Amino acid sequence: MLRITDLEVSYGDFQVIWGVSLEVGAGEVVSLMGPNGCGKSTIFNTISGLLKSKAGTIELDGQRIDNLPSHEIVGLGLAHVLERRRVFPYLSVRQNLWLGAYNPKAKAHRDETIEQVFDRFPRLRERQDQLAHTLSGGEQQMLALGRGLMSRPRLLLIDEPFLGLAPGVAKEMMDMIASVNATGVAVLFIEQNVQVALSMSNRGYILESGRMVLTGKPEELLNSGEVKRIFLGG
Ligand SMILES: Nc1ncnc2c1ncn2[C@@H]1O[C@H](COP(=O)(O)OP(=O)(O)OP(=O)(O)O)[C@@H](O)[C@H]1O
Ligand SMILES: [Mg+2]
Repeated sequence: MLRITDLEVSYGDFQVIWGVSLEVGAGEVVSLMGPNGCGKSTIFNTISGLLKSKAGTIELDGQRIDNLPSHEIVGLGLAHVLERRRVFPYLSVRQNLWLGAYNPKAKAHRDETIEQVFDRFPRLRERQDQLAHTLSGGEQQMLALGRGLMSRPRLLLIDEPFLGLAPGVAKEMMDMIASVNATGVAVLFIEQNVQVALSMSNRGYILESGRMVLTGKPEELLNSGEVKRIFLGG
């Protein structure tokens, strides 16, 4: 479904992504792991069209998307839930969700989709008129995910869905992601904790200093000395 080949990304003269390749198949859950600053969010921002690549290709269902603006990429079925649950603080929960459905295809189903999101996140229904900045951290993460779902994606990119959440809320978020995936939506997500990431993934990728160093199934990665070296410095 998603195929990234030999991707290179720079901020000005400062190159941070070096020849990265990555694939997500239809219906898969895939995790992207790696230390702080290694370029994980940069890859997501490039996939969703917020950043331009320097070299390489990004394809969605065989179609090049690396030259498309973000709103067209969303229209093709790819939604990106940004790092640190960026919601519009002075808009209500409902208005934030509506903004997720601005592309014409999603807009036609807006009322139906918002009901589905409210069924999934009853707390958002209860708080639909509340300003987003008054939500708790966990609720804001639910809102960010809900807004992504409003575009009716086939592939969802989620940048650190569990960041700063208490264990109970993180578990709730995991179940939510699994239930979204069960409806056929493929998920690519970033998570620093290898155990957590792999417990809910079909496959994982490990990025180090902008280069993809390892990929495999959870059991392969968990037993890898390379993974221990990268994350434990051993
Ligand atoms: N807008 C920017 N301008 C210049 N450099 C940037 C910019 N955004 C990120 N960088 C740099 O690019 C590198 C990769 O950053 P990125 O945010 O992709 O890492 P990350 O793996 O998501 O890190 P974290 O785990 O902390 O979220 C870092 O060295 C960062 O300082
Ligand atoms: Mg990041």
